[in-house]
Amino acid sequence: MSTETGLMAELRRVVGPRGFLDQATDLEPYLVDHRKLYRGATSLVLRPDSTEQVSAIMRLCNEARVGVVPVGGNTGYCGGATPSEDGSQIVLSLARMRRIRSIDPLNYTMIAEAGCVLAEVQAAAAAVDRLFPMSLGSEGSCQLGGNLSTNAGGTAVLRYGMMRDLILGLEVVLPDGRILDGLKPLRKDNTGYDLRDLFIGAEGTLGVITAAACKLFSRPAATVTAFVGVTDPQRAVALLSRLRTFTGDAVSTFELIPRIALELVLQHIGDTTDPLDGAHDWYVLLEIGMGRHDEQLRGAIEVELAAAMEEGQISDAALATSETQREMFWRLRETIPEAQRHIGASIKHDVSVTTSELPQFIIEACRLVQAISPQGRIVCYGHLGDGNLHFNISRPAGADDESFLRLAPNINRAVHDLIARYGGSISAEHGIGRLKREELVRYKHPVALEVMRAIKQALDPNGIMNPGKVL
Ligand code: MLT
Ligand code: ZN
Repeated sequence: MSTETGLMAELRRVVGPRGFLDQATDLEPYLVDHRKLYRGATSLVLRPDSTEQVSAIMRLCNEARVGVVPVGGNTGYCGGATPSEDGSQIVLSLARMRRIRSIDPLNYTMIAEAGCVLAEVQAAAAAVDRLFPMSLGSEGSCQLGGNLSTNAGGTAVLRYGMMRDLILGLEVVLPDGRILDGLKPLRKDNTGYDLRDLFIGAEGTLGVITAAACKLFSRPAATVTAFVGVTDPQRAVALLSRLRTFTGDAVSTFELIPRIALELVLQHIGDTTDPLDGAHDWYVLLEIGMGRHDEQLRGAIEVELAAAMEEGQISDAALATSETQREMFWRLRETIPEAQRHIGASIKHDVSVTTSELPQFIIEACRLVQAISPQGRIVCYGHLGDGNLHFNISRPAGADDESFLRLAPNINRAVHDLIARYGGSISAEHGIGRLKREELVRYKHPVALEVMRAIKQALDPNGIMNPGKVL
């Protein structure tokens, strides 16, 4: 028996007969990333069902110097969970670790395992009249561990923060198999370095997150969802500021949508209609949640939006009158990536600047991209309240994917250089994975990179944790 066969046999023994996949058809979904940018190879996907099993797996792989690629729902945008092409790495799925270990409504906390689907975490909180506010288009399939490892953003960051802000403690298995138990659901704990924050956003390169102590919130008693037409992003920024002041920061969602994105959705996605009568160059999907009574909140927002219209800040607005209509408004925003796929290849950017500078950034970035691809269709939308834009360019109508994608290096350089001039980020919420490794080296401060490499060396000296990602 070769050494490799010996290791594989031991790993299978650790997880038991239900804890691994090794048949080609079963392995297939783990070999390709969500955007189909990468295709890797592996002979084994491990599916442990306890932290102890993860610990034993890591100890064995560390001793054998075999790379381990953790995977959650595989909904990431940067190839962070795809194994390398040479088939030398093992994939580690946490999908069977999906228990809610405990929930404490009085402390507003929950301890959940990494394999819980995000929607299950939200539902467990709702069952005790609490809110877990992380909200994403892929919440029906993405997993808590993946959300943590990529420090996910989504559509409620404006009010509740990113994943990092929603977590009090973590349980992590280190690359050598030791278990770092930091699961205390405490809001205050100033006892040295904050180790939790090392693993959040590390994309599985420092250890395997197996469970998290999550923060919960009160569920708003009333929610108003509005679809608003505006002439330009500058006015949208002013509206956000107005509503934040008016509601005492109760705006949880403020998403910018260009006309072209709405048209794509209306054309390609079923059960969608334009909520407004005329056509507007830009739209905002906004949501406000408060503890006050439904009709009171709705009436107050209606009056405020009418005043904004009177002053020329907005062009039109519709408030959702039922849960069905609210869902349809959300559908108009959440299906933009899907709708965009219908018109061929796109070159995507996930950038951030300050919210106040976002309108000017859009103008300059459009100018730069149009100089490279005059017919490219710019579909730039996103989380305006967070200064985060998905600045995507779809291939020109009638053009072919391949020749358009050849422009990617030039377009990426133009957009990211502009971002650097703004002091912004080249990856606001999607992470680095494999896709942006070189961009990270180019744009991250050299001292920050040195510190990151030192941390990686200290925790994973054999380089077995998600090799080839981030750094
Ligand atoms: C979104 O906000 O829709 C997602 O982050 C995906 C995207 O980049 O389009
Ligand atoms: Zn997004």
